[in-house]
Amino acid sequence: METKEVDHERMRFLRDKFNVWAPMYETTVEKVSIQSSFNLYSVTRANKGSKICEVGAGCGLSARLFISYLMKDDSSYFVSDISDEMNKIFVQRFLDTDTALDPNVKIESLEESESIDVDKEISRFSDRFSKRIFSLRANNEFLPFPDGCFDVYISTLSLMIVPNPENQLSEAYRVLEEGGIAGFSVWGRKENCTMMTFVGEVFKEAQLDYTSGSGSSFKLSDKDALVKDVKKVGFKDVKAYYTMTNPGFASVEESYNYAITAADAKLSYESCTEEQKQHFKTTFYNMYEERYGDSTSEMMNWETLVVVAKK
Ligand SMILES: C[S@@+](CC[C@H](N)C(=O)[O-])C[C@H]1O[C@@H](n2cnc3c(N)ncnc32)[C@H](O)[C@@H]1O
Repeated sequence: METKEVDHERMRFLRDKFNVWAPMYETTVEKVSIQSSFNLYSVTRANKGSKICEVGAGCGLSARLFISYLMKDDSSYFVSDISDEMNKIFVQRFLDTDTALDPNVKIESLEESESIDVDKEISRFSDRFSKRIFSLRANNEFLPFPDGCFDVYISTLSLMIVPNPENQLSEAYRVLEEGGIAGFSVWGRKENCTMMTFVGEVFKEAQLDYTSGSGSSFKLSDKDALVKDVKKVGFKDVKAYYTMTNPGFASVEESYNYAITAADAKLSYESCTEEQKQHFKTTFYNMYEERYGDSTSEMMNWETLVVVAKK
């Protein structure tokens, strides 16, 4: 499969966007996206992995749970994201966990570098640490690791965001050893993702201008096409399935707060006047009540597409 030149300017734009969004991401989306992460830890058998690479890990709620409850002894886990804010939250929250007090566990933040010698970094840890965790800034399209150095690769909900997914797929293949397993998840079919599309319907109903900030995030939601792309970079035994990752928002407020701060609608919302914002809010609450309120058993939904593949 042809790879493309990495668009560094676009990358910086995305990094800035995720840096700003990180605190809100932690309080809203992450508690939902753990469902998707645990799908991947399960299908890749990451609990048996010795050298695990997780990319686009966000604020790392699932990574922390993985470390505490699934990661096996005598293993190493490289947790990366392009956003420094996401990485910072991951490390800070990790240091607050009981697991961080375990004398066998150690975390280290690595400086961003074009080349990181994974085995050397691991060997710098004393033998007494049986779970070795590394946090670093890295771009999924251009990983700093040598060829064939991991046995598990995890990417939850970031492949559909990067400008050139083919680059990320090639990198996943490159950094895995023969027989290594990769798991990817991306947004599912648009019609099954009301968590993303509802806000657009509210703008329409309220007769306000709306441009979807993440409209293209559905670009990988065709299962057969994605399987083909994954095979094209060399993976075999490629399996894929759609699954639900239901947001289960506790309240209309939570759903509304997510809608106005998430990348998808943030810009459209912020360009409204105060009066328009109020009108938007009333419309949102009314439509939400009608579709997902106390009188119905309907929930917003968020389908994801999971792919697991072997090198
Ligand atoms: C939707 S979030 C998913 C985060 C986490 N995996 C989860 O499931 O909650 C996408 C993450 O990908 C990161 N990201 C976006 N583009 C990236 C890139 N090119 N390289 C590495 N990370 C990237 C973002 O900073 C963000 O943390």
